[in-house]
Amino acid sequence: MAVPELLVTTATRPDEALLQRALVVSRRCGVPLTPRAHGLAAHLQAEGARLAYVVGRQEEWLATAGARLKVDVGLLHAHLALGPRHPLLRALGPADHVIDATLGLCHDALHVAATTGARVTGLEISPPLFSLAERGLSQLHAAGLDAAARITPLWGDARDLLTSAGPADAVLIAPMFDRPRCAPPGFDLLRHVARSAALDAGWLRAALAVAPRVVIKARRTQPLPAFALPHLQQILRSRAIDYWVLSLGG
Ligand SMILES: C[S@@+](CC[C@H](N)C(=O)[O-])C[C@H]1O[C@@H](n2cnc3c(N)ncnc32)[C@H](O)[C@@H]1O
Repeated sequence: MAVPELLVTTATRPDEALLQRALVVSRRCGVPLTPRAHGLAAHLQAEGARLAYVVGRQEEWLATAGARLKVDVGLLHAHLALGPRHPLLRALGPADHVIDATLGLCHDALHVAATTGARVTGLEISPPLFSLAERGLSQLHAAGLDAAARITPLWGDARDLLTSAGPADAVLIAPMFDRPRCAPPGFDLLRHVARSAALDAGWLRAALAVAPRVVIKARRTQPLPAFALPHLQQILRSRAIDYWVLSLGG
């Protein structure tokens, strides 16, 4: 499903390679490619759009007139400093292969790949977010971050892709939260292009079929849905996040 009010554009004076890449993204997103000669704000206004996916020479990003979103290292350096004590890593347990069923901007996937050395298969349903991940990961790898090359992004619905992406040692699912009181910059932009879907019984079943551990990242104190309760092993907590560790046996 196309994201409303989105267009795809390029840096000004694009060469053939840039135009070809922008065409791939625009077809994937199901929205027009509109190359531009002027600033982004003027281009959005002229095209009557609110949001642009920009294919630049060095990187790609999503932008409105006031906000910008791309794949970057985020809190990776702080996570590396904490090492295996981080609750996400303790929740996942020892792993050679992790499936991140909600790849988003790749922050969790980079955290896991960089701290543990595990291979991560990342599943993302939103065409613009998948495109950002595809380009952002290859750019981070080219800039020297080896962990980015251990992440394989796949585009589609995790519920359909989990079987072929598995088996894995653990599956991570981080559904979209409601808007937190102190939302990070770009949160509203992320919400606009991300698929907001709560975890359901079918999704959990598909995850438990390919890995002995499934970790759900939830907002602190969020209630566990009834269908997940029989599978609950443990809850690990950070300041704002609960990690529910689930397994077939419960
Ligand atoms: C909260 S974000 C994940 C953030 C991510 N873990 C990170 O570190 O950047 C949730 C993501 O899951 C994606 N998503 C939602 N439902 C999905 C599904 N059925 N299959 C694949 N991705 C899905 C959304 O589009 C969104 O990008």
